Amino acid sequence: MRRRLCALVAALVFSPLSFAAQQLAATPPMGWNSWNWFAGKVTDADIRKAADLIVSSGMRDAGYVYVNIDDTWEGKRDANGGIRSNEKFPDMKALADYVHSKGLKIGIYSSPGSKTCAGYEGSFGHEEQDAKTYAEWGFDYLKYDLCSFRDNMRQEHPNDPAAQNHMMRDAYEKMHQAILKTGRPMVYSLCQYGYDQVWQWGPEVGGNLWRSTEDISANYNSMMLIALSQAGLSKYAGPGHWNDPDMLEVGNGKMNHDENVSHMTMWAMLAAPLIAGNNFTEMNDDLRSILTNKEVIAIDQDKLGKQGDRIHSGDETEIWSRPLADGSVALAIFNISEDRTTMRGQRLHLKEAGFPSGTARARDLWTGKDLGTLKDTDAFTIPRHGAVMLKLTK
Ligand code: GLA
Repeated sequence: MRRRLCALVAALVFSPLSFAAQQLAATPPMGWNSWNWFAGKVTDADIRKAADLIVSSGMRDAGYVYVNIDDTWEGKRDANGGIRSNEKFPDMKALADYVHSKGLKIGIYSSPGSKTCAGYEGSFGHEEQDAKTYAEWGFDYLKYDLCSFRDNMRQEHPNDPAAQNHMMRDAYEKMHQAILKTGRPMVYSLCQYGYDQVWQWGPEVGGNLWRSTEDISANYNSMMLIALSQAGLSKYAGPGHWNDPDMLEVGNGKMNHDENVSHMTMWAMLAAPLIAGNNFTEMNDDLRSILTNKEVIAIDQDKLGKQGDRIHSGDETEIWSRPLADGSVALAIFNISEDRTTMRGQRLHLKEAGFPSGTARARDLWTGKDLGTLKDTDAFTIPRHGAVMLKLTK
C-alpha cells in the first residue's frame, strides 16, 4: 500500500506533463464521441440529443462527461482566416452552452493538416487562431487527427522517416502551445494511430491521451486485435497521460453480450479512455448495464493510474492483471477461442498477478458476487469470446 502511494506521488512529480495537464485527465477521460455511430452525418441536433440521453440513461452519473464532436463539423474560413462551422452546426457557442447546461463538457476535432481525414478544413497554418476560436466557443477537449499532414511530411522530407516524424511531433507541439495560450483548459487527444511509438513522446507534446492503434471497427476481431496489441505499453500510461486504444464500439455492429463484456473489461484493464460511440436512442438495458457497471468503471478510473498488462497468453485464454491503488489487483481472463472454455488444465496465474501464496480473495465484477478464496488451480467456465473480471485481495 505504502509502495503504491509512493508510486503515485512519483508519477505525479516526475511526469513530463505540467501539474495542470495531469489534473485535467488525472484518470482516463470518459464520454461519448460522434464518429463510431454517426460518422459524417452528425448534426447539431444529434449532439444535443446525445447530451440529453447521456444524462437520462445514467451515463453521465456513471462518469461519461465529455460529449465530443468528431470530424465533419468544419465549414469554410472567413476573410480573416477564422474557422466557421458548416450548415450542420449553425451555432457552435450555443451548442457548447447547451451541452454545458446539462452538467457535461464538450469536445471538438481538427487536424494539423490542411484537410481532415474526411476532407474538411484542417488547422494547418491557423493553429493559434483555431485554438482561440475553440476556447471562445467553450470547448473543453480537442482531438487532433494527423490525416493529411502525412502528405506534408512526405513532401517536405521524402525518404527521410526520421525527419518526417520530427515534423509530426512539432505539429502536435504547435497545437499544444496554441491551446496553452488560450488559457482555457482543454484535454488534448493525439490521434496519429500510434506512429513513431507516440507513447514515448506523447506527454512531451502535451498529450493527455494518444491513439495507440489504427481505427477500431465494430466487430470482435478488430477489437481483440487492438486489445492484444497493447501488451507491453503499461509503463507509458499514468495520471494525465493515457494510451488510447480507440473509442468504444459497445452497442455498435453485431458484437454480442459476451463480446461487449470482453471489450469493456479490456478497456478497463488498459486504463483506456472510455469514450462510448453508440447510438443512445437504441440503447437497451443490456448495453446500459455493460457501459455503466460501477465496479468495472472503478477499475478503469483507479487513482493509481497503472495500466494493466498481460501475464499469460495461450491459445484459448489471455490473462491480464492490473495493480490498484488500495493494494488489490484486477485480474481478467479472456476466452479468445471460438468455443466455450472450462479452463481445463490452465492456471489463474495468481503468483504472476502478485499473490505469491497462490491464493487470493476474489470478487466477480460482472456478477457482483464475492467468490471467497480462490486457488491458482480454480477454473471458470467462460463463453466463446467472453471474459471474467475479478478484483483480488490478500
Ligand atoms: C480518423 C480517426 C477516426 C475519426 C476519423 C474522422 O480515421 O482515426 O477516429 O476521427 O478520422 O474522419
